[in-house]
Order: sequence, then C-alpha cells, then structure tokens
Amino acid sequence: MPNMKIANLTLPNNLFLAPMANVTNLAFRMLCKKYGASLTYSEMISADAVVQQGEKTMQRGLTCEDERPFCIQIFGNSPNTMTEAALILEETYRPAIIDVNLGCPAPLIVRQECGSALLRSPSLVHDIVSHLADNISTPVSAKIRVFDDMEKTLEIARTIEDAGAYAITVHGRTREQMYSGTSSLEYAKAIKKELSIPVIANGDIKDGESAKHALEYTGCDGLMIGRAAIGHPYIFRQVSHYLENGESLEFDHCNQQVSDFMEYIELVEKYGIFSLGDIKAQSKAFTKGVAGSRHIREKLNEAKTIGSIIDVINGMCDGT
Ligand SMILES: Cc1cc2nc3c(=O)[nH]c(=O)nc-3n(C[C@H](O)[C@H](O)[C@H](O)COP(=O)(O)O)c2cc1C
Repeated sequence: MPNMKIANLTLPNNLFLAPMANVTNLAFRMLCKKYGASLTYSEMISADAVVQQGEKTMQRGLTCEDERPFCIQIFGNSPNTMTEAALILEETYRPAIIDVNLGCPAPLIVRQECGSALLRSPSLVHDIVSHLADNISTPVSAKIRVFDDMEKTLEIARTIEDAGAYAITVHGRTREQMYSGTSSLEYAKAIKKELSIPVIANGDIKDGESAKHALEYTGCDGLMIGRAAIGHPYIFRQVSHYLENGESLEFDHCNQQVSDFMEYIELVEKYGIFSLGDIKAQSKAFTKGVAGSRHIREKLNEAKTIGSIIDVINGMCDGT
C-alpha cells in the first residue's frame, strides 16, 4: 500500500475511516485501525459546545494515545468560535489534523447554518478555513459534499485550498441526495486534477473492487470508507488485501463478525464508553451479511442485557 502524506504527516496507507456520528466511537475506530485504516476521525464535534462548555464537553474516551494519528472533526459556522474550539482541542488532544465538516445534510445541522449549509457561502468557507489555518498549529482539512453543478463544486474546492487547507475529502453526493442514489466519482476526479493538496474520494466504497476503481478512476490520493465499515471493520483488511494483491481475501465472514463484535465490547469497556444502547445498535450492525440476519436482529431487539446480546451474537454462526 502506498504511503500518503498530508502536511508533515506520513501515513502508512491511503485508506481512511469516515467520521460517522453515533457509530465511529473510539472503540470502533480502534478496530478499524487494527485492520488497516491509517487515519481515523472523531465523530463531528460542535465548536460552539466546545467553547461554551470547555472541558465538560470533552467526551470521555474521545480519543487516546493508541489512536494516533487521529483527526478531530468540528462543525460550526463562526470563524472565531471554530478557531477558539480548535485551539482548545489542539491543546487538549494534539490531533494530527482538524477537519471542518462542510458536508453534513442533517436538518438539525443545516438549520443552524452548519455542515453542508456552508457550501452556499464560499466566502464564509474561506473565512472559516483561513482563520483556522492562520491561528492553529495543527493542519486543517475539510470534508465536502458536491453541487449538481461541477463549476460550483470546483469553486468551493479551490476556495478551500486557497484558504490554507492541507487536504480535502469529497463525498460525491449533493446535500439534497442525503444518502440516496449513487455517489459520483466525477467531482473527486475533477477536483484532483485542479488542486495540489491531497484529495480523498468518499462515497459508496464497499469492497476491494470499488476501492480500486475509485482510486484509478479519480486519481485521488486516498479513499475514505464510511457505511461499509459499519458492523464490518474488517473491510479495511479486505480492501487493502485486494489493492495489494488484485484478488479477494478469503475469510470466514460470520466468525469474523463475532470475534470483532466481542473485541468491540472489550474496547468500549477499556475506554470507559460502555452503553447498552450503543452495544445493542452495534450488535445489530455486526449481523450484516450473516445468513438469517433478520431473525438474529429480531432476537437482538428482544435482548435486555449485555449477556443476552452476547449469547445471540455468539450463536449466530451456528443458528442457535
Ligand atoms: C450514521 C452516519 C453518520 C455520519 N456522521 C458524519 C459526521 O459526523 N461527519 C461527516 O463529515 N460525515 C458524516 N457522515 C458521512 C460519512 O462520513 C460519509 O461521507 C458518507 O457516509 C459517504 O460515505 P460511504 O458511502 O462510504 O458511507 C455520516 C454518515 C453516516 C451514515
């Protein structure tokens, strides 16, 4: 796998885990790291909350030394507040990169004029990124969605580079698409052609074949994988194996899911972020692709304790 450089950071490969709120907590990210994700991102953090509540908003288990290098993603819409928050996060956690969320389409975020809503204001995007880049010592990156209009998309990408970002991630869906339809690789390809900073392609990468195609088609420096990793952190090993060897990795899917889920539980305990609600949601995700998964999820829905969740997952490969 090729090394990848962002600012002065050299990463062992070019496969990144996407930030996903309520999914990619520290325990989940550590599993993805183990399987080869070279850069992991925190779930998006509100800059306003960091500034207003300071230490109190610092989630337990937000990150840890073992996770290095990691990226912290923030959202907000005020250059000053976002910079103030970034300074607090930088001092507390020393992340390798601080990423600006310019892609979230969730109504709650868009109503606050944050996330993808900012794409409508290139001058504000410039102010946010340049204010951050000028005032913090951590390299800044940004993650965008695209417009139907290629030229508008390129304009935002150029703005982000001109403002001093060290990398850009392009999710090839529009804000209106939310997560429907397909993610287009055309935009990442065009942005890669124009910009000199590293470009990371994101959207619908789900296996070795789609990863290889995305890299070759776009010429991008790296790939970011999101939903395909949910309940299946092993995807990073599968994809890197395919990229290195040009063939699919043979493995026992069901038993892999069971052992990864058990390790997930150990990790949430280790990092002090255990929550029954989260374990239940994750347990259902780990049934993905397993024979009879619908029936297994029904049993998980009825499970009321961690012990019963573990029993269901432990029995899922032999149909018990
Ligand atoms: C449950 C969920 C939560 C997400 N949370 C974030 C987030 O906090 N920040 C962000 O930039 N993108 C977020 N995303 C978008 C993903 O990072 C990614 O861009 C998107 O899912 C497309 O990639 P994929 O097709 O590989 O999933 C989220 C997506 C999902 C499904």
